[in-house]
Amino acid sequence: MPDTSAKFEVTLVLPTTEERIISVRTDEHIWDAALAAGIKLPALCHQGRCLTCAGRLLNGGQVDQSESVSYYPADRDAGFVLLCTGRPLSPLRILTNQQEKMREHRRRKGLPAPYS
Ligand code: FES
Repeated sequence: MPDTSAKFEVTLVLPTTEERIISVRTDEHIWDAALAAGIKLPALCHQGRCLTCAGRLLNGGQVDQSESVSYYPADRDAGFVLLCTGRPLSPLRILTNQQEKMREHRRRKGLPAPYS
């Protein structure tokens, strides 16, 4: 049973290269915590399917993607995360707005890449 009171610091590196540090509970989706902090990141499905909310881990770290409808070991290996359904399991540093890069990665691997 995860400790729902636990929180991790998540640094979001935005396209403007501006960095925002937010605190995210382990039972909270990173996208929702960003919105609560006034940071509106891209998203469409909010189910972990469309890749619109994709980010990329810059310094490793762990994200729980068990609530994502479509997430593959190859995504994890390449450092891609889906912020709409991802919950932090460690401190994180994430480059946001990576939807095109993640779709390209999926196409290369022969995996579903919606809206490509
Ligand atoms: S908004 Fe669709 S995968 Fe996150």
